[in-house]
Amino acid sequence: MRDIEDVAEAFRTARGFGSSPLYSRLLTVVAEDEALLALAALTRHGQQPTFALFGAVHHLLLSGVPDPLAEYYPSVVGAAARPVDGDTGPAFARFCAAYSGPISSLLGTRLVQTNQVQRALVLRLGLALLRRTTPGPVCVVEVGCSAGLNLRADRYAYTVGGTPVGDRGSSVHIEVDVPNPGPLPDLDQLPEIADAVGIDLAPPDLTDVDDRAWLRALVWPENSHQAAQLQAAMAEAAADPPRVVAGNAIEVGPTVAATLPPGLPRLVVHTATRIHVPAEDRPAFDAAVAAFGVDGPMLHLALEDDQLVAPSGRPGCGLTATDEAGSRTVAVADGHLAWLEPLPAMNDVA
Ligand SMILES: C[S@@+](CC[C@H](N)C(=O)[O-])C[C@H]1O[C@@H](n2cnc3c(N)ncnc32)[C@H](O)[C@@H]1O
Repeated sequence: MRDIEDVAEAFRTARGFGSSPLYSRLLTVVAEDEALLALAALTRHGQQPTFALFGAVHHLLLSGVPDPLAEYYPSVVGAAARPVDGDTGPAFARFCAAYSGPISSLLGTRLVQTNQVQRALVLRLGLALLRRTTPGPVCVVEVGCSAGLNLRADRYAYTVGGTPVGDRGSSVHIEVDVPNPGPLPDLDQLPEIADAVGIDLAPPDLTDVDDRAWLRALVWPENSHQAAQLQAAMAEAAADPPRVVAGNAIEVGPTVAATLPPGLPRLVVHTATRIHVPAEDRPAFDAAVAAFGVDGPMLHLALEDDQLVAPSGRPGCGLTATDEAGSRTVAVADGHLAWLEPLPAMNDVA
């Protein structure tokens, strides 16, 4: 059981929920309701209780549990969904009381594993940055890769700042609003990839119906495009699974690093992962990531700092690049990569 005040704080101060009017409202509802906070406090240690509670409720509704709360979920009832109103909070509270058993069970067993395919752009961007100095081969590591969908970044179709990029024939299409693409590298020029590997605490099994359903439930109810993108990426990855190692990066990182050919440049990426590492473990997590650079030159990209403001004034997440020259913020992006604003510092990478 987590500290209730910490849980309340997580709901009060959560950022980045702007694309979900429903969850934006429910953040306040939960923050002010003792019973809901007590339920959310059952979220596993280190995991963010906001995503976990909303995911658990969504999972039950998507699985067909009949309840008036479903009327507010476009993912369940489609375009006929009720807009948020005065009864949304009470409906959510009633649902959580009625289904506290299955919700508790999900919170106690599942992790926040949202595999946001839009964030594959971070990995592709890292590859393109490496290509500025090397044609390859290079290695790729994603730490906290969930099902590993973003390890396939080199295979997807993109429209970045209005320009088509990548494999135009892919069933996965990622469109990112980039108002000032000037500092971006050429995203069609990638180095040869010698090896790509992911690490995750508990990689979801894409051949397992329940695991796929959990990943689907973690997509917010209004984000139908993201849900379709997830299904397409899951189908591609299930047919040709990426290499994913199960375990805590702090423990298995050195073993995975030892499998990379010494001397080869390596791109190490983590997106929306460090926030789910318990605070006391973050120094060890950072050290495990840095250790990937011991046997070869490393470019480390992290999309984790959710307290930044983009040049346009939008609140977003910082994208940090670390290499031999040090660490700097090279872009500010929406947490779901709906948009990205590169900073001049991106010109200095690699
Ligand atoms: C919110 S998901 C993000 C997944 C992916 N990076 C993305 O952006 O789509 C965070 C993932 O990190 C994993 N994770 C958290 N802590 C980890 C650790 N210490 N070692 C390995 N994986 C971890 C979780 O299991 C989860 O799948």
